[in-house]
Order: sequence, then structure tokens, then C-alpha cells
Amino acid sequence: MLGSTGSIGRQALEVIAGSSDLTVVGLSCGSNAELLLEQALEFGVPHVAVAHAKKAAVCSSLHPEGVVWSGPDAAAQLVREVDADLVLNGIVGFAGLEATLAALGRGVDLALANKESLVCAGCMVRAAALATGARLIPVDSEHSALFQLMLGRETSEIDSLVITASGGPFRGWARDALCTVTPKQALAHPTWNMGPKITIDSATLMNKGLEVIEAHHLFDIPYERIEVVVHPQSIVHSLIRLVDGALLAHLGLPDMRVPISYALHYPRRLPVGKNLMDLARTGMLFFEEPDEEAFPSLSVARAAGLQGDGATCVLNAANEVAVHAFLAGRLMFSGIPEVVAETVHREAVDAPTTFAEVVDLDYRTRAAAEMVVAELTQNG
Ligand SMILES: NC(=O)c1ccc[n+]([C@@H]2O[C@H](COP(=O)([O-])OP(=O)(O)OC[C@H]3O[C@@H](n4cnc5c(N)ncnc54)[C@H](OP(=O)(O)O)[C@@H]3O)[C@@H](O)[C@H]2O)c1
Repeated sequence: MLGSTGSIGRQALEVIAGSSDLTVVGLSCGSNAELLLEQALEFGVPHVAVAHAKKAAVCSSLHPEGVVWSGPDAAAQLVREVDADLVLNGIVGFAGLEATLAALGRGVDLALANKESLVCAGCMVRAAALATGARLIPVDSEHSALFQLMLGRETSEIDSLVITASGGPFRGWARDALCTVTPKQALAHPTWNMGPKITIDSATLMNKGLEVIEAHHLFDIPYERIEVVVHPQSIVHSLIRLVDGALLAHLGLPDMRVPISYALHYPRRLPVGKNLMDLARTGMLFFEEPDEEAFPSLSVARAAGLQGDGATCVLNAANEVAVHAFLAGRLMFSGIPEVVAETVHREAVDAPTTFAEVVDLDYRTRAAAEMVVAELTQNG
């Protein structure tokens, strides 16, 4: 389990604690080695990986036969060296890509929460899965819903995919009002409790843009047949539109443990806590178009998707830089889509063909995006 100290990772461990079918053989984190060690001792896990090398020493009291990998590629090393039936990738950001490719390259099924893997190198990830026959099982709630709705269905029956978006904490706000948004406001998501990066992405609607790209690669559906609809209650997780006009929806309470458990046990289903939804008490469900004037990230992401993997890799790196700058107080909230759009405009290139080229493009883009942040800040 990669990214075990994060929101997805901690909820996945809850699911595993309640399941007699699953044994964890490896854990990874970025820098929170204290929590990683606690988890390793609680679940009896002998192999751990810590990306921040200086923090790895904390794990020296692991099981005497345990192994600790450290450094930026530690999670990928863990995946390459420890045998597992399934890898759950809950790492945030570009840092998750190498481990995704490592798992699929070994032919190991992958439960993928790290959507950035598909955004940065979708074609490469798909090719790796195809080459070894490893299965890619989505963890993102919308994609898990789509995956379930599409099971056993012919592609010719499907007209389009409809991904729902909560709209985030600023739904209904005008573009000008978004200039004053603080990190604290943006981190308060109305329906989901998630890590900071995806929470900011949800507030800008970039998360939905990344999810459109993710859906395109997971289900091999052209961009023009992937719709986004805002649904503030987050009860309908996604829908598929069939060619005869029928719409099939997947409903449930907003609880990430459900799609996590589904991915971990696939194709079986097991109970997950007490999350039965009372339809009569749920009340009204409503749907509206996303406001792409106030939240331009969605259209910027779509346009990058249409350009291809080079542009989406640039989009992702620029977004990671912009979100980081916003959280550090160096960029206004409304500056996030500006930085991303300008960086994609300046830097978008043909799709990289090797992992080394993707890493190089990500690295160069981060420097370019930092320059755009600095220019925007100087210009007020
Ligand atoms: N949270 C959700 O409900 C949710 C829903 C759908 C999809 N997702 C996707 O799932 C992924 C994880 O999201 P999250 O909300 O769980 O994020 P999070 O709470 O921030 O956790 C991220 C995890 O990645 C680790 N990490 C950070 N930087 C790393 C690096 N450089 N190398 C290796 N590991 C690193 C973190 O370790 P430390 O704790 O040591 O920093 C942590 O374990 C994201 O791609 C997100 O889009 C999340």
C-alpha cells in the first residue's frame, strides 16, 4: 500500500483491518515515517518505503527482518522487490507515477487512486498494463462508479460518460470574488474529507479536469463523450448514458472506503461499515452545469487532454506548482488556473515516449511554472 499515511491510505487500512481476506506486505509514505512505523507495527508489515531519505531512520525499530527503502524512488523499489497480488497507489501527485509503472510492468494488478499517473503519462500507463495483462482498477469514487456501471457492457452500447462534481466550497461564486479566497476557506470541502492537494483541486475544479483525463484513459472514450455535471450532494457518483437514451447512475453516501474496498476486493463485494443510505431522508438531488467562466480549470484541462500526453503532463506539473504556491501564500486562488493555462500555453510539447522523458518534462515545467507564478505576483 503506497501513500499509507495519507487520506486514501489511512481509510484503506481501516478497510483492511475489517477484512479477513487481505494482508499488507508493504507500506510507503513521503515523510511521515512516525505514522508509517506505527502502521507497520500494527499490521505486522516487514517492508516499508520512505521518500524523504532523512526520515527513514525513524523506521529502524521495524521488525528485525524488515527492509526500509528510502529516497524519491523508494515506493517503486518496494513494488519491484516485494511480491504482492495487488498494489494500491494512494501517493499524491507526480511522485506516484514511477510506482504505477513499476506495478503494471511487473504484471501486478493496480488499485489506482493516484490519478496524476494517468494525467502525466496515460498512454504509457495503458501500454504497461496491456503489455503484462495487469488490471487497472480505479479508486476515485467517480471512476469506480463508471467502472461498475460499464462492467459487462459493450462499448457500442455507451453513448457517453457523465462525471459528477460537488462544485467545491465556492460553487455559485463569481470569478472576481474568488480573488480573496484564503487557503483555510479552500481547504474546507463541503462533502469530502481529503488530502490538501486534491481539496484545492476540487475547489478550482481542476480535480474534475484531471478526472476527465483519467476517465479518457481508463475507459478509452473520446473527450467529446465525457460530460461533467455539478451535483452538490455528492450522492450520485457518476452516470453512463446509453445509446437508447437510458441513463444509469451509481448512488451512495460520500464515503471513500466504499470504492477503496471495492478495488481491494474486486470482483467481490464486502460490507463496509454502516453506510446504508436512506433514500427517503436523502431529499432532493440536483444537477447543474459547471460554471467554466468562474472556474476555467476544467476547460484548460480538457484542452490539454485534446492536445495529448505532453500537454497533460505540463498541466499537471504547473498545477502542482500553483497549488503549492497558493497554500504557501505566494499566489492568489484565482491565480492557480492562470498559472496552469499560461504554462501549458508556453511549454506544451509532444508526448514523451519514455519514463525519463516524462521526468524531464515534469522537471522543466516546474521551473517554467515557478517563473509564471513570480511574474503574476510581480504584476500584482
Ligand atoms: N482523499 C481522497 O478522498 C481521494 C479521493 C479520490 C482520489 N484521491 C487521489 O488519491 C491520491 C492521494 O490523495 P490523498 O488525499 O490521500 O492525499 P494525502 O492525504 O495528501 O496523502 C498523500 C500520500 O502520499 C505520500 N506522499 C506525499 N509525497 C510523496 C512523495 N514525494 N513520494 C512518496 N509518497 C509521497 C504522503 O506521505 P506523507 O504523509 O508522509 O506526506 C501520503 O501518504 C491523490 O492522487 C488524489 O487525487 C484521493
